[in-house]
Amino acid sequence: MNRIVYVNGDYLPEGEAKVSIFDRGFLMADGVYEVTTVIDGKLIDFDGHFMRLERSLGELDITNPMDRDAWLEVHRQLVAQNGVDQGMVYLQVTRGAPGDRDFIFPDPEATTPTVVLFTQSNPALVDSPKARKGIKVVTIDDIRWGRRDIKTVQLLYPSMGKMMAIRQGADDAWMVQDGEVTEGTSNNAYIIKDGRIITRALSNDILHGITRAAVLRFAQEAQMPVEERSFTVDEAKSADEAFVTSASTFVMPVVEIDGAKLGTGAPGPLATRLREIYIDESRKAAI
Ligand code: PDD
Repeated sequence: MNRIVYVNGDYLPEGEAKVSIFDRGFLMADGVYEVTTVIDGKLIDFDGHFMRLERSLGELDITNPMDRDAWLEVHRQLVAQNGVDQGMVYLQVTRGAPGDRDFIFPDPEATTPTVVLFTQSNPALVDSPKARKGIKVVTIDDIRWGRRDIKTVQLLYPSMGKMMAIRQGADDAWMVQDGEVTEGTSNNAYIIKDGRIITRALSNDILHGITRAAVLRFAQEAQMPVEERSFTVDEAKSADEAFVTSASTFVMPVVEIDGAKLGTGAPGPLATRLREIYIDESRKAAI
């Protein structure tokens, strides 16, 4: 691979990029990240991701090392240098690398944040075979920490959850707290009943998805009623349709929950329509 990546101010071939072994991202998962989608070589919802990055950093008392325009420039440089047509830009900011391991935060004057960005191409993002078939999900306990609204790099449990799903022949897991679905391992979760789109309200229990905000706006503009409230696993299993949203999957129909088929077992009409609207509108607004 001769991908060009960005590390602390430098554009380098990926094999030459280095981060310290004392980096708090590596030792303590003390960092945050964003994933911004690229379609037609342009960034989808860049400003939404930038604003959530600012919020995540603020909640952890990490100073944002760059302003909006500087972040945009790095994103665009990497997309251009790596010739990305469809794919994503991953960014990560950690509290940096003090000389030793210590639970106490380092003095921010002495230890500056570490900044890493790289791209991943995925030519099948828009015309996704998975979206045509829909995905199967299984439910698992949500045992994550209480600040899921901060997009930290603590992704071990979501990663284990995905493996639990795959070992059961499914594609992904929905996490459940007190009998109610919080979200997917790396996406927000929705059901549709009698034409109404139902998704958990925003709180510290879930990530405030940038795709979620856009999809709910498009749904309302298309006169599809939206209910922001929690739903149980039983309610989900008897829904007409279901779907998940994220920067990397857009609107992805869900066709089975814990082995129970939804509707005909094929992607539902409303989820399919929302996916089309989301892709069309996002393409128009991409920068
Ligand atoms: N995941 N919930 C969780 C737990 C997530 O990790 C994500 C995103 C979302 C959807 O957020 P957005 O619409 O802003 O992408 C919800 C990214 C894509 C990832 O980890 O790859």
